[in-house]
Amino acid sequence: MPQKSSHKRYLLNVSGGDIAHRFTDVVVLGSGAAGLRAAIESALGGLNVIVVSKQAPEETNTYYAQGGVAAVLSKNDSVDEHIRDTLKAGCELCNKEAVRTIVSEGPECIRELTEWGAAFDMDGDDLAFTREGGHRRARIIHAHGDATGNEIMDALLKKARSFDNILWFENTFAIDLLTEAETCRGVLISDGSELSAVWAKQVIMTTGGCGRLYRETTNPEIATGDGLSMAWRAGATLANMEMVQFHPTTLYVAGATRALISEAVRGEGGTLTIKDGHAFMKEYDPAGDLAPRDIVSRAILKEIKRTGETNVYLDLSAIDADKLKKRFPNIRKLCAGFDIDITCDPIPVRPSAHYMIGGIKTDLDGRTSVRNLLVAGEVASTGFHGANRLGANS
Ligand code: FUM
Repeated sequence: MPQKSSHKRYLLNVSGGDIAHRFTDVVVLGSGAAGLRAAIESALGGLNVIVVSKQAPEETNTYYAQGGVAAVLSKNDSVDEHIRDTLKAGCELCNKEAVRTIVSEGPECIRELTEWGAAFDMDGDDLAFTREGGHRRARIIHAHGDATGNEIMDALLKKARSFDNILWFENTFAIDLLTEAETCRGVLISDGSELSAVWAKQVIMTTGGCGRLYRETTNPEIATGDGLSMAWRAGATLANMEMVQFHPTTLYVAGATRALISEAVRGEGGTLTIKDGHAFMKEYDPAGDLAPRDIVSRAILKEIKRTGETNVYLDLSAIDADKLKKRFPNIRKLCAGFDIDITCDPIPVRPSAHYMIGGIKTDLDGRTSVRNLLVAGEVASTGFHGANRLGANS
């Protein structure tokens, strides 16, 4: 449910001392797909833009996306079917207008990415499509097999870097929004040696989620919820913060970080089993291994509890070995580092925190309850995902 901050809004006293003052039209906080796309659009409109990233601009959740992007691009698919799957995965708690708008605009966004240089995997002359949990059609496009985010980031960064009116503040921490009379006036930032007040006509928050609050998470170190807390302190309304998506299958090996094993491996024929090889998902949902991820995560936890084991297994042995090597080169390499040959060895997996479903409440134009503070991407709560995001729908 929406929650309004009761914290006092304030304007930091930045008139004296050693604070540098900078002025621009737009500040974008975060440099994942949402941030770069916002920066590009602002720059195309002739505005001066500053992009602030906590580490290098590449170090974002977008960069690590494996499975792919869902969009209606196949002749066997339709907008209505993608909407139906999104609403079902979202437990019918989605904002229907957001779902129709975003699903309808998806194909054009993919065409734009392609125009800017993103090369998605092909099957002959057509795009290659796969499935993930909850998709009743193969509508997920991917790149380099399992390195989709990498390809999208490269294309967006190249495009964004072609603008002279975008300035890059890397390795720079956003401390707080500067607000006055329920209006955002800019942001206070630090690169570790200098504190700057960046005054802007608009701040676009695209800082992603807070997966790192959890011990077991797929998220990189940067995902610490800074944007959510800055917005809260500035008086913005947050919504559905109790809704956090757990990805069913992350690698569960001592000494490994909880690396994602993409749902797309089940889309290509992988099966979840317990230690003795018994496949259990059909006992939980008619869609079996391709049920929506909340159902699969809960089923895995029940099996872990029932068997007393610490994990379940992903068995990919039914997939042709050559196809497996070509489709999932990075997952193969990751597992090989732990002496797991994915063509024949079951991969130990268990669920981990993956995606923030709630966030800063926004309308479909990215507006929040604080004037001049816009939001996009995972940090935003548009209602698109309902109670549970359909895989590849972000
Ligand atoms: O399983 C995956 O590749 C994850 C996809 C997603 O979270 O969209």
